[in-house]
Amino acid sequence: METCESQARPRLYTRAFGCQMSAADVAEMSGALVERGYTLTSDLSEADAVLVGTCTVREHAEHRALSYIGRLRRWKRERPSGALIVAGCAAERLGPDIKRRFPHVDLVTGSKSVGEFPSLIDKVMPDHRLPRGGQVPEGRRSICASVTVMRGCDRSCSYCIVPSVRGREVYRPADEILAEVRRKAEAGAKEVTLLGQTVNSYRSSVSFADLLALVDSVAGIERIRFMSPHPLHLDGPMAHAMAECRKVAPALHLPAQSGSDRILGLMRRGYDRAAFLEKVSMVRRAVPGLTVTTDFLVGFPSETDEDFQSTLSLFEDMGAVSAYCFKYSPRASTPSAFLPDDVPRRVKEDRLARLNAFVAGRTAAYLDSLAGREVQVLTEEPGVGRAADGFKVRLVPPVPPVPPGRLVQAQVVGRTRNMLFGNLLRRNA
Ligand code: 5AD
Ligand code: SF4
Repeated sequence: METCESQARPRLYTRAFGCQMSAADVAEMSGALVERGYTLTSDLSEADAVLVGTCTVREHAEHRALSYIGRLRRWKRERPSGALIVAGCAAERLGPDIKRRFPHVDLVTGSKSVGEFPSLIDKVMPDHRLPRGGQVPEGRRSICASVTVMRGCDRSCSYCIVPSVRGREVYRPADEILAEVRRKAEAGAKEVTLLGQTVNSYRSSVSFADLLALVDSVAGIERIRFMSPHPLHLDGPMAHAMAECRKVAPALHLPAQSGSDRILGLMRRGYDRAAFLEKVSMVRRAVPGLTVTTDFLVGFPSETDEDFQSTLSLFEDMGAVSAYCFKYSPRASTPSAFLPDDVPRRVKEDRLARLNAFVAGRTAAYLDSLAGREVQVLTEEPGVGRAADGFKVRLVPPVPPVPPGRLVQAQVVGRTRNMLFGNLLRRNA
Protein backbone atom coordinates (compact mmCIF):
# COMPACT_ATOMS: atom_id res chain seq x y z
CA MET A 1 0.00 0.00 0.00
CA GLU A 2 1.85 3.03 -1.18
CA THR A 3 0.99 6.58 -0.45
CA CYS A 4 1.83 9.50 -2.71
CA GLU A 5 4.25 10.55 -0.04
CA SER A 6 6.20 7.31 -0.20
CA GLN A 7 6.33 7.55 -4.00
CA ALA A 8 8.04 10.92 -3.69
CA ARG A 9 10.62 9.63 -1.26
CA PRO A 10 13.92 8.13 -2.34
CA ARG A 11 13.97 4.36 -2.05
CA LEU A 12 16.45 2.22 -0.16
CA TYR A 13 17.30 -1.37 -1.01
CA THR A 14 19.24 -3.39 1.56
CA ARG A 15 21.06 -6.69 1.47
CA ALA A 16 22.92 -8.27 4.39
CA PHE A 17 25.45 -11.07 4.07
CA GLY A 18 26.54 -13.22 6.99
CA CYS A 19 25.22 -13.58 10.49
CA GLN A 20 22.27 -12.08 12.33
CA MET A 21 24.53 -9.36 13.74
CA SER A 22 25.16 -8.23 10.17
CA ALA A 23 21.42 -8.20 9.47
CA ALA A 24 20.78 -6.26 12.69
CA ASP A 25 23.45 -3.68 11.81
CA VAL A 26 21.91 -3.21 8.37
CA ALA A 27 18.47 -2.77 9.98
CA GLU A 28 19.89 -0.15 12.37
CA MET A 29 21.64 1.74 9.57
CA SER A 30 18.63 1.61 7.29
CA GLY A 31 16.63 3.01 10.22
CA ALA A 32 18.90 6.07 10.13
CA LEU A 33 18.23 6.48 6.40
CA VAL A 34 14.50 5.99 6.83
CA GLU A 35 14.53 8.71 9.50
CA ARG A 36 16.08 10.93 6.86
CA GLY A 37 13.21 10.37 4.49
CA TYR A 38 14.03 7.13 2.71
CA THR A 39 11.46 4.44 2.19
CA LEU A 40 12.35 0.76 1.87
CA THR A 41 11.96 -1.17 -1.36
CA SER A 42 12.42 -4.84 -2.14
CA ASP A 43 13.03 -4.05 -5.80
CA LEU A 44 16.63 -3.19 -6.64
CA SER A 45 15.71 -1.69 -10.01
CA GLU A 46 13.71 1.10 -8.38
CA ALA A 47 16.23 1.85 -5.59
CA ASP A 48 17.87 5.28 -5.21
CA ALA A 49 20.27 3.95 -2.58
CA VAL A 50 21.64 0.49 -1.85
CA LEU A 51 23.06 -0.56 1.50
CA VAL A 52 25.11 -3.78 1.54
CA GLY A 53 26.10 -5.39 4.84
CA THR A 54 29.22 -7.47 4.31
CA CYS A 55 30.71 -10.35 6.28
CA THR A 56 34.31 -11.48 6.60
CA VAL A 57 34.13 -14.28 9.16
CA ARG A 58 34.80 -16.90 6.47
CA GLU A 59 36.50 -16.46 3.13
CA HIS A 60 33.43 -17.74 1.32
CA ALA A 61 31.11 -15.23 3.04
CA GLU A 62 33.42 -12.38 2.10
CA HIS A 63 33.63 -13.50 -1.54
CA ARG A 64 29.87 -13.65 -1.83
CA ALA A 65 29.49 -10.11 -0.51
CA LEU A 66 32.26 -8.74 -2.75
CA SER A 67 30.96 -10.42 -5.87
CA TYR A 68 27.51 -8.97 -5.13
CA ILE A 69 29.06 -5.48 -4.88
CA GLY A 70 30.75 -6.13 -8.23
CA ARG A 71 27.40 -7.01 -9.77
CA LEU A 72 25.95 -3.70 -8.56
CA ARG A 73 28.10 -1.93 -11.16
CA ARG A 74 25.20 -2.27 -13.57
CA TRP A 75 22.71 -0.72 -11.14
CA LYS A 76 25.06 2.23 -10.62
CA ARG A 77 25.55 2.64 -14.38
CA GLU A 78 21.81 2.82 -14.84
CA ARG A 79 21.38 5.21 -11.89
CA PRO A 80 24.55 7.33 -11.59
CA SER A 81 22.97 9.60 -8.95
CA GLY A 82 22.17 6.59 -6.74
CA ALA A 83 24.18 5.99 -3.57
CA LEU A 84 25.90 2.66 -2.97
CA ILE A 85 26.88 2.18 0.67
CA VAL A 86 29.03 -0.76 1.75
CA ALA A 87 29.04 -1.53 5.46
CA GLY A 88 29.95 -4.36 7.82
CA CYS A 89 32.88 -6.56 8.70
CA ALA A 90 34.46 -6.94 5.24
CA ALA A 91 34.20 -3.15 4.88
CA GLU A 92 35.99 -2.82 8.22
CA ARG A 93 38.73 -5.24 7.17
CA LEU A 94 39.28 -3.98 3.63
CA GLY A 95 38.52 -0.28 4.18
CA PRO A 96 39.69 1.91 1.27
CA ASP A 97 40.56 -1.20 -0.78
CA ILE A 98 36.84 -1.57 -1.46
CA LYS A 99 36.67 1.80 -3.21
CA ARG A 100 39.85 1.05 -5.14
CA ARG A 101 38.46 -2.27 -6.32
CA PHE A 102 34.91 -1.03 -6.85
CA PRO A 103 34.98 2.64 -7.91
CA HIS A 104 31.17 2.60 -8.21
CA VAL A 105 30.89 2.42 -4.41
CA ASP A 106 30.02 5.78 -2.83
CA LEU A 107 30.56 5.16 0.85
CA VAL A 108 32.41 2.50 2.87
CA THR A 109 31.69 2.25 6.58
CA GLY A 110 33.02 -0.53 8.80
CA SER A 111 31.33 -2.55 11.49
CA LYS A 112 33.00 -0.55 14.26
CA SER A 113 31.20 2.59 13.08
CA VAL A 114 27.54 1.56 13.15
CA GLY A 115 26.90 4.12 15.92
CA GLU A 116 28.44 6.93 13.88
CA PHE A 117 26.55 6.07 10.70
CA PRO A 118 23.85 8.79 11.06
CA SER A 119 26.41 11.59 11.42
CA LEU A 120 28.50 10.08 8.62
CA ILE A 121 25.65 10.16 6.12
CA ASP A 122 24.76 13.70 7.12
CA LYS A 123 28.36 14.65 6.38
CA VAL A 124 29.04 12.77 3.18
CA MET A 125 25.55 12.61 1.72
CA PRO A 126 24.11 16.06 2.55
CA ASP A 127 21.92 15.90 -0.55
CA HIS A 128 20.29 12.88 0.92
CA ARG A 129 19.23 14.74 4.02
CA LEU A 130 15.49 14.95 3.67
CA PRO A 131 12.65 15.94 5.93
CA ARG A 132 12.62 13.56 8.87
CA GLY A 133 9.69 11.37 9.72
CA GLY A 134 10.02 8.01 8.02
CA GLN A 135 9.14 4.85 9.85
CA VAL A 136 11.99 2.77 11.21
CA PRO A 137 11.96 -0.70 9.65
CA GLU A 138 11.34 -3.50 12.08
CA GLY A 139 12.67 -6.58 10.30
CA ARG A 140 10.84 -9.72 9.24
CA ARG A 141 7.26 -8.42 9.00
CA SER A 142 7.91 -6.93 12.47
CA ILE A 143 6.72 -10.11 14.25
CA CYS A 144 10.27 -11.22 14.95
CA ALA A 145 12.56 -8.41 16.06
CA SER A 146 16.26 -8.45 16.88
CA VAL A 147 17.80 -6.23 19.49
CA THR A 148 21.57 -5.88 19.74
CA VAL A 149 22.59 -5.98 23.40
CA MET A 150 26.38 -5.99 23.02
CA ARG A 151 28.92 -5.47 20.28
CA GLY A 152 32.42 -6.84 19.77
CA CYS A 153 34.21 -9.77 21.37
CA ASP A 154 36.87 -9.93 24.09
CA ARG A 155 37.82 -13.52 23.40
CA SER A 156 40.52 -14.50 20.95
CA CYS A 157 39.67 -17.79 19.31
CA SER A 158 42.68 -18.43 17.12
CA TYR A 159 40.73 -18.80 13.85
CA CYS A 160 38.43 -15.82 14.29
CA ILE A 161 38.61 -12.40 12.69
CA VAL A 162 35.66 -10.97 14.65
CA PRO A 163 37.63 -9.39 17.52
CA SER A 164 39.75 -7.46 15.03
CA VAL A 165 36.86 -6.22 12.85
CA ARG A 166 34.30 -5.60 15.59
CA GLY A 167 36.59 -4.54 18.41
CA ARG A 168 36.29 -5.06 22.13
CA GLU A 169 33.03 -5.74 23.93
CA VAL A 170 30.66 -2.84 24.50
CA TYR A 171 27.37 -3.38 26.33
CA ARG A 172 24.27 -1.29 25.80
CA PRO A 173 22.62 0.01 28.96
CA ALA A 174 19.71 -2.20 30.04
CA ASP A 175 17.18 0.65 29.97
CA GLU A 176 18.09 1.42 26.35
CA ILE A 177 17.65 -2.25 25.43
CA LEU A 178 14.30 -2.42 27.23
CA ALA A 179 13.11 0.76 25.56
CA GLU A 180 13.91 -0.76 22.17
CA VAL A 181 12.14 -4.02 23.05
CA ARG A 182 9.07 -2.07 24.21
CA ARG A 183 9.08 0.08 21.09
CA LYS A 184 9.26 -2.99 18.89
CA ALA A 185 6.54 -4.73 20.91
CA GLU A 186 4.29 -1.70 20.49
CA ALA A 187 4.99 -1.83 16.75
CA GLY A 188 3.74 -5.44 16.69
CA ALA A 189 6.76 -7.61 17.53
CA LYS A 190 5.89 -10.82 19.37
CA GLU A 191 9.31 -12.40 19.40
CA VAL A 192 12.61 -10.79 20.24
CA THR A 193 16.10 -12.18 19.68
CA LEU A 194 18.78 -10.62 21.86
CA LEU A 195 21.94 -10.41 19.79
CA GLY A 196 25.61 -10.23 20.59
CA GLN A 197 28.80 -11.91 19.45
CA THR A 198 29.04 -13.55 22.88
CA VAL A 199 25.61 -12.43 24.01
CA ASN A 200 25.80 -13.90 27.51
CA SER A 201 28.97 -12.03 28.41
CA TYR A 202 26.56 -9.09 28.66
CA ARG A 203 26.99 -7.07 31.81
CA SER A 204 25.98 -3.54 32.73
CA SER A 205 24.05 -2.54 35.81
CA VAL A 206 22.50 -6.00 35.36
CA SER A 207 23.74 -9.47 34.36
CA PHE A 208 22.59 -11.40 31.29
CA ALA A 209 20.33 -13.51 33.52
CA ASP A 210 18.72 -10.33 34.88
CA LEU A 211 18.36 -8.97 31.37
CA LEU A 212 16.40 -12.07 30.35
CA ALA A 213 14.06 -11.51 33.29
CA LEU A 214 13.59 -7.83 32.41
CA VAL A 215 12.79 -8.59 28.78
CA ASP A 216 10.46 -11.37 29.96
CA SER A 217 8.33 -8.73 31.64
CA VAL A 218 7.75 -6.65 28.50
CA ALA A 219 4.07 -6.74 27.57
CA GLY A 220 3.29 -7.95 24.07
CA ILE A 221 6.46 -10.03 23.70
CA GLU A 222 5.58 -13.72 23.66
CA ARG A 223 8.90 -15.38 22.92
CA ILE A 224 12.52 -14.57 23.65
CA ARG A 225 15.61 -16.01 21.99
CA PHE A 226 19.27 -15.07 22.24
CA MET A 227 22.23 -15.56 19.93
CA SER A 228 25.02 -16.67 20.36
CA PRO A 229 26.00 -17.52 23.89
CA HIS A 230 29.55 -18.60 24.72
CA PRO A 231 30.00 -21.71 26.89
CA LEU A 232 32.37 -19.90 29.27
CA HIS A 233 29.74 -17.33 30.19
CA LEU A 234 26.99 -19.87 30.65
CA ASP A 235 26.47 -19.96 34.41
CA GLY A 236 23.91 -21.19 36.94
CA PRO A 237 21.97 -17.91 37.11
CA MET A 238 21.61 -17.89 33.31
CA ALA A 239 20.31 -21.48 33.25
CA HIS A 240 17.98 -20.58 36.11
CA ALA A 241 16.70 -17.50 34.25
CA MET A 242 16.05 -19.61 31.14
CA ALA A 243 13.99 -21.95 33.30
CA GLU A 244 12.12 -19.25 35.19
CA CYS A 245 11.29 -16.83 32.39
CA ARG A 246 8.11 -18.08 30.76
CA LYS A 247 8.81 -16.43 27.43
CA VAL A 248 12.40 -17.59 26.96
CA ALA A 249 12.26 -20.39 24.38
CA PRO A 250 13.61 -23.71 25.70
CA ALA A 251 16.26 -23.66 22.99
CA LEU A 252 20.01 -23.25 23.28
CA HIS A 253 22.33 -22.57 20.34
CA LEU A 254 25.74 -23.18 21.88
CA PRO A 255 28.69 -23.19 19.44
CA ALA A 256 31.07 -26.09 20.18
CA GLN A 257 33.40 -25.75 17.12
CA SER A 258 35.13 -29.11 17.72
CA GLY A 259 34.84 -32.22 19.85
CA SER A 260 38.58 -32.84 20.09
CA ASP A 261 40.38 -31.50 23.16
CA ARG A 262 43.58 -31.06 21.18
CA ILE A 263 41.83 -28.97 18.50
CA LEU A 264 39.82 -27.01 21.09
CA GLY A 265 43.15 -26.12 22.72
CA LEU A 266 44.64 -24.96 19.39
CA MET A 267 41.45 -22.99 18.75
CA ARG A 268 41.86 -21.32 22.17
CA ARG A 269 38.22 -21.86 22.96
CA GLY A 270 38.84 -21.86 26.69
CA TYR A 271 37.03 -25.14 27.43
CA ASP A 272 37.46 -28.82 26.80
CA ARG A 273 34.89 -31.35 25.70
CA ALA A 274 33.98 -32.40 29.25
CA ALA A 275 33.46 -28.81 30.39
CA PHE A 276 31.34 -28.09 27.32
CA LEU A 277 29.16 -31.14 27.92
CA GLU A 278 28.76 -30.16 31.56
CA LYS A 279 27.41 -26.73 30.52
CA VAL A 280 24.87 -28.37 28.23
CA SER A 281 23.81 -30.78 30.99
CA MET A 282 23.42 -27.91 33.44
CA VAL A 283 20.94 -26.16 31.15
CA ARG A 284 19.16 -29.44 30.38
CA ARG A 285 18.72 -30.10 34.08
CA ALA A 286 17.20 -26.64 34.54
CA VAL A 287 15.06 -26.43 31.39
CA PRO A 288 12.78 -29.39 30.64
CA GLY A 289 12.40 -30.18 26.95
CA LEU A 290 15.44 -28.10 25.96
CA THR A 291 16.55 -28.40 22.34
CA VAL A 292 20.21 -27.79 21.64
CA THR A 293 21.91 -26.72 18.41
CA THR A 294 25.52 -25.81 17.71
CA ASP A 295 28.24 -24.61 15.30
CA PHE A 296 31.15 -26.74 14.13
CA LEU A 297 34.24 -25.84 12.18
CA VAL A 298 35.97 -28.69 10.34
CA GLY A 299 39.44 -28.89 8.82
CA PHE A 300 41.23 -26.72 11.37
CA PRO A 301 45.04 -26.97 10.91
CA SER A 302 46.35 -30.43 11.87
CA GLU A 303 42.83 -31.88 12.37
CA THR A 304 43.12 -35.67 12.01
CA ASP A 305 40.36 -38.08 11.17
CA GLU A 306 40.38 -39.08 14.83
CA ASP A 307 39.82 -35.42 15.87
CA PHE A 308 36.99 -35.26 13.37
CA GLN A 309 35.45 -38.44 14.81
CA SER A 310 35.45 -36.69 18.20
CA THR A 311 33.43 -33.86 16.64
CA LEU A 312 30.87 -36.36 15.35
CA SER A 313 30.67 -37.99 18.75
CA LEU A 314 30.36 -34.67 20.57
CA PHE A 315 27.38 -33.79 18.40
CA GLU A 316 25.88 -37.11 19.46
CA ASP A 317 26.82 -36.80 23.13
CA MET A 318 25.42 -33.29 23.50
CA GLY A 319 22.11 -34.51 22.05
CA ALA A 320 21.96 -31.65 19.55
CA VAL A 321 19.21 -31.61 16.93
CA SER A 322 20.92 -29.43 14.34
CA ALA A 323 24.19 -27.65 13.61
CA TYR A 324 25.70 -25.05 11.34
CA CYS A 325 28.87 -26.62 10.00
CA PHE A 326 31.68 -24.72 8.31
CA LYS A 327 34.91 -25.51 6.53
CA TYR A 328 37.90 -23.78 8.08
CA SER A 329 39.40 -20.92 6.08
CA PRO A 330 42.40 -18.96 7.34
CA ARG A 331 41.55 -15.30 8.01
CA ALA A 332 44.18 -12.60 7.68
CA SER A 333 46.21 -11.84 10.82
CA THR A 334 44.41 -14.33 13.05
CA PRO A 335 46.74 -16.58 15.10
CA SER A 336 45.75 -19.73 13.23
CA ALA A 337 46.57 -18.10 9.88
CA PHE A 338 50.21 -18.63 10.91
CA LEU A 339 49.66 -22.38 11.24
CA PRO A 340 49.98 -24.43 8.04
CA ASP A 341 46.51 -24.84 6.49
CA ASP A 342 47.42 -28.48 6.05
CA VAL A 343 44.09 -30.30 5.80
CA PRO A 344 43.66 -30.75 2.03
CA ARG A 345 40.59 -29.10 0.50
CA ARG A 346 39.14 -32.47 -0.53
CA VAL A 347 39.49 -33.79 3.02
CA LYS A 348 37.80 -30.68 4.44
CA GLU A 349 34.98 -31.05 1.95
CA ASP A 350 34.61 -34.73 2.70
CA ARG A 351 34.47 -34.09 6.47
CA LEU A 352 31.98 -31.29 6.00
CA ALA A 353 29.75 -33.53 3.88
CA ARG A 354 29.98 -36.37 6.42
CA LEU A 355 29.19 -34.04 9.30
CA ASN A 356 26.26 -32.45 7.46
CA ALA A 357 24.87 -35.89 6.62
CA PHE A 358 25.20 -36.96 10.26
CA VAL A 359 23.48 -33.77 11.42
CA ALA A 360 20.69 -34.22 8.86
CA GLY A 361 20.09 -37.72 10.22
CA ARG A 362 19.73 -36.39 13.77
CA THR A 363 17.44 -33.59 12.62
CA ALA A 364 15.24 -36.12 10.84
CA ALA A 365 15.13 -38.37 13.91
CA TYR A 366 14.23 -35.41 16.11
CA LEU A 367 11.46 -34.21 13.79
CA ASP A 368 10.13 -37.79 13.60
CA SER A 369 10.06 -37.93 17.38
CA LEU A 370 7.66 -34.98 17.37
CA ALA A 371 5.01 -36.85 15.34
CA GLY A 372 1.66 -36.63 17.13
CA ARG A 373 3.02 -34.20 19.73
CA GLU A 374 1.63 -30.75 20.45
CA VAL A 375 3.82 -27.74 19.69
CA GLN A 376 3.34 -24.04 20.24
CA VAL A 377 3.66 -22.05 17.02
CA LEU A 378 4.17 -18.32 16.59
CA THR A 379 3.02 -17.40 13.10
CA GLU A 380 5.32 -15.15 11.08
CA GLU A 381 3.44 -15.31 7.79
CA PRO A 382 -0.15 -16.38 7.10
CA GLY A 383 -0.36 -20.02 8.19
CA VAL A 384 3.39 -20.44 8.73
CA GLY A 385 5.43 -19.95 11.87
CA ARG A 386 8.05 -21.44 14.13
CA ALA A 387 7.88 -23.80 17.08
CA ALA A 388 9.77 -22.93 20.26
CA ASP A 389 12.70 -25.07 19.07
CA GLY A 390 13.07 -22.79 16.03
CA PHE A 391 11.83 -25.27 13.40
CA LYS A 392 9.41 -23.92 10.83
CA VAL A 393 5.83 -25.19 11.02
CA ARG A 394 3.25 -25.00 8.25
CA LEU A 395 -0.26 -25.12 9.64
CA VAL A 396 -2.90 -27.34 8.10
CA PRO A 397 -5.66 -27.04 7.10
CA PRO A 398 -4.41 -23.95 5.28
CA VAL A 399 -7.76 -22.18 4.91
CA PRO A 400 -8.44 -19.76 6.44
CA PRO A 401 -4.77 -19.15 7.26
CA VAL A 402 -3.88 -18.02 10.78
CA PRO A 403 -2.66 -14.42 10.44
CA PRO A 404 0.95 -13.50 11.35
CA GLY A 405 1.73 -12.78 14.99
CA ARG A 406 -0.53 -15.38 16.62
CA LEU A 407 0.46 -18.00 19.16
CA VAL A 408 -1.34 -21.23 18.39
CA GLN A 409 -1.14 -24.87 19.43
CA ALA A 410 -0.68 -27.45 16.70
CA GLN A 411 -0.31 -31.20 16.54
CA VAL A 412 2.59 -32.40 14.41
CA VAL A 413 1.24 -34.46 11.50
CA GLY A 414 4.20 -34.64 9.15
CA ARG A 415 7.51 -33.18 8.09
CA THR A 416 9.86 -32.36 5.28
CA ARG A 417 13.66 -32.34 5.67
CA ASN A 418 13.60 -29.44 8.11
CA MET A 419 10.02 -28.27 8.42
CA LEU A 420 6.97 -29.59 10.26
CA PHE A 421 3.32 -29.76 9.29
CA GLY A 422 1.05 -28.98 12.21
CA ASN A 423 -2.67 -29.53 12.57
CA LEU A 424 -4.13 -26.39 14.09
CA LEU A 425 -5.61 -27.29 17.49
CA ARG A 426 -6.38 -23.96 19.11
CA ARG A 427 -5.44 -20.34 19.28
CA ASN A 428 -3.86 -19.11 22.51
CA ALA A 429 -4.40 -15.45 21.93
N1 5AD B 1 36.78 -20.47 9.09
C1 5AD B 1 35.60 -21.15 9.07
N2 5AD B 1 34.59 -20.93 9.91
C2 5AD B 1 34.74 -19.96 10.82
N3 5AD B 1 33.92 -19.49 11.78
C3 5AD B 1 34.55 -18.48 12.41
N4 5AD B 1 35.77 -18.27 11.89
C4 5AD B 1 35.92 -19.19 10.90
C5 5AD B 1 36.97 -19.48 9.99
N5 5AD B 1 38.15 -18.83 10.00
C6 5AD B 1 32.60 -20.08 12.04
C7 5AD B 1 32.48 -20.56 13.50
C8 5AD B 1 31.54 -19.54 14.09
C9 5AD B 1 30.68 -19.17 12.90
C10 5AD B 1 29.95 -17.88 13.04
O1 5AD B 1 31.61 -19.10 11.84
O2 5AD B 1 31.90 -21.85 13.50
O3 5AD B 1 30.77 -20.08 15.16
FE1 SF4 C 1 35.08 -15.24 17.30
FE2 SF4 C 1 35.56 -16.73 19.45
FE3 SF4 C 1 34.65 -14.19 19.72
FE4 SF4 C 1 33.01 -16.11 18.77
S1 SF4 C 1 33.94 -16.05 20.84
S2 SF4 C 1 33.30 -14.03 17.92
S3 SF4 C 1 34.44 -17.39 17.58
S4 SF4 C 1 36.64 -14.81 18.89
